[in-house]
Amino acid sequence: MSEPKRVAILISGGGSNMIRLVESMEGDHPARAVLVASNDASAAGLERAARLGVPTAAIDHRPFKGDRAAFEAELLKPILAAKPDILCLAGFMRVLTPAFVARFEGRMLNIHPSLLPLYPGLHTHQRALDAGDAEAGCTVHEVTAVLDTGPILGQARVAVEPEDTAETLAARVLGMEHRLYPAVLRRFAAGDRSPVWL
Ligand code: GRF
Repeated sequence: MSEPKRVAILISGGGSNMIRLVESMEGDHPARAVLVASNDASAAGLERAARLGVPTAAIDHRPFKGDRAAFEAELLKPILAAKPDILCLAGFMRVLTPAFVARFEGRMLNIHPSLLPLYPGLHTHQRALDAGDAEAGCTVHEVTAVLDTGPILGQARVAVEPEDTAETLAARVLGMEHRLYPAVLRRFAAGDRSPVWL
């Protein structure tokens, strides 16, 4: 069996998707988590990753006062040291520069809480409710230079209920994210880009 693929995961918050990814990478899984990094040293996900035995790093973006290239130059240090084959963005809330994306193009994934190409960006659940959509969901896609537009590797759908609020819808979609992202990563790490539909 070939060496498992090395996966680095970038987070900004609690890291519930990161935990599902890390927990899924065991046994005959074709990949292993080698790093969890965050732009926020107080992100609860860092401690959770450490408890799962994954090395962690925190590079605070605030001292760079919007200088994204300078922030990324620091962020790249622990990432390159971990020699990842694949980068997973999991609730990472910094927009990456085209130069950073180009470095990992074709091997960087992101999860987004809408049925792309619908609702790139923020407040996806409220926008789905405001539009009166019957369905909502989440998407795993390859990251390209244009935010939330890369090739789709999987989608999961949920019905929108009449009594839904953005919060109740977000919670149901998050449950599907936790199934979709590990399923896509397992396929992607095995070299299979065929999409997963849930
Ligand atoms: C998820 O809904 C993800 O789609 C979005 O940010 C949220 C992060 O959740 N980008 P978590 O940190 O993985 O719990």
